[in-house]
Amino acid sequence: VKWTEQERTSITSIFSSLDYDDIGPKALSRCLIVYPWTQRYFGSFGNLYNAEAIKTNPAIAAHGIKVLHGLDRAVKNMDDIKGTYAELSILHSEKLHVDPDNFRLLADCLTIVIAAKMGNGFTPDIQSAFQKFLAVVVSALGRQYH
Ligand code: HEM
Repeated sequence: VKWTEQERTSITSIFSSLDYDDIGPKALSRCLIVYPWTQRYFGSFGNLYNAEAIKTNPAIAAHGIKVLHGLDRAVKNMDDIKGTYAELSILHSEKLHVDPDNFRLLADCLTIVIAAKMGNGFTPDIQSAFQKFLAVVVSALGRQYH
């Protein structure tokens, strides 16, 4: 994957102004609400009974923050996202048995939450850089599936 300077700057700037504690929980809970079948992986996370329960579930919030910090590693290693996520891919595949289609669903929810937060700042250029970044992340996370 090749990145233009503008794409690198866009990605770095999105993440440098990101409120992890706000965006992480919102993105993960949105995914669980909009795509309810993704709840099956979080059976040990307590009450996911309805949208309100999901949005106020502290285990979900904590995990959303953890996932966003997982993305930090890709931002810091933009030239080797595949290698950076080799282990995380194996974890999601062999241990967690997460269907890799779900990576894209979570990525889409994250895009929507960030767009809502950034408002007019989420320009088409920013969006295209961000979606490219997430597409590379999704592909890297799905690499170790067989
Ligand atoms: C665990 C990142 C997508 C389900 C994790 C961990 C990270 C992470 C960093 C912690 C790993 C560890 O403890 O060593 C990501 C990233 C994703 C992603 C960056 C995509 C952008 C998903 C999706 C699902 C999922 C889509 C399911 C729908 C899980 C589960 C765990 C986990 C069930 C273990 C949670 C626990 O029991 O503590 N993920 N993940 N992940 N992930 Fe993901």
